[in-house]
Amino acid sequence: MSWHPLPFNPETLDEGDCKGFELAGAPYFLVKKFGQLYAYHNRCPHQQINLEWKADTFLDVDKSLIQCASHGALFTIKDGRCVAGPCTGQQLQALTLRKQDQQWQACVESG
Ligand code: FES
Repeated sequence: MSWHPLPFNPETLDEGDCKGFELAGAPYFLVKKFGQLYAYHNRCPHQQINLEWKADTFLDVDKSLIQCASHGALFTIKDGRCVAGPCTGQQLQALTLRKQDQQWQACVESG
């Protein structure tokens, strides 16, 4: 595990915005909601593919749940738990964030 700087400043996101990005060669995305930042590995537990149907679009129309574009699985923003769809009960893999020396970083598997 090692800390990597985020390739953008997540503080520039507005409430309900999302952003996809890569770290150490793997895809992730970040959601700003409830005044907080949540980040997950961009892999649906159903078929291990990316969630979004177009760039930086990860939420349902209400912006209340994360939605997989392929078969409509819905995940809570706060903990990434699937609450509806073909992988109900499974979980998105969370990415741990921290801010250090004015820079946002994420902890990812190295190698
Ligand atoms: S790949 Fe996400 S719901 Fe099927």
